Amino acid sequence: MHWLVVLLIAAAFVLGKNMSQLPNEPSKITPLAIHMTLGIITLLAVVVRLIARFRLPQPAHATTGNAFLDRLGKLVHYALYALVLLMAVSGISLSMQSGLMTIVFGGSGAPLPADFFDFTARLLHGFAAPSLLLLVGLHIAAALYHQFILKDNLLARMWHAK
Ligand code: HEM
Repeated sequence: MHWLVVLLIAAAFVLGKNMSQLPNEPSKITPLAIHMTLGIITLLAVVVRLIARFRLPQPAHATTGNAFLDRLGKLVHYALYALVLLMAVSGISLSMQSGLMTIVFGGSGAPLPADFFDFTARLLHGFAAPSLLLLVGLHIAAALYHQFILKDNLLARMWHAK
């Protein structure tokens, strides 16, 4: 589930960034449809992952031997979930506020809104994106710290048990 969510977020992120540079013309409907579908699947995958996390037995938290870093590690994991949920929910709100759902998925034929920034949810979506990027960077740095500095082979437990 972790690696599936990584792929989905990376794809939604790259597509979202590229797509936001395009003018709001009919040719943007297909990239919007792909981005929105990926975003909604990401939301479903994260919810399934959260349910699995609460229901299934969990391995012990990986420790660094430093109480502050351990607490920061837990906080970053919760913040990652919160930001991904915020990205998806703000994207869905933006689509509902701007009538995108019917344009993109309902084939209403209406023109795209002149500027997505006319809607407050767009500001939230745009703010959450770099915050998520920053936290993902911190998360990767921490994983590399475990793997190569602490040498506790943390990455090995992120796959199927033998
Ligand atoms: C975790 C899931 C998602 C990620 C990582 C993501 C990422 C992004 C990024 C990086 C941007 C460009 C932001 C900017 O340049 O300021 C963007 C724009 C956008 N996203 Fe998402 N998004 C997600 C989910 C969704 C969902 C679920 C929807 C709608 C159902 C959606 C609809 C949009 C729209 C309409 C834009 C604006 C495009 C524009 O300004 O031209 N996103 N997204």
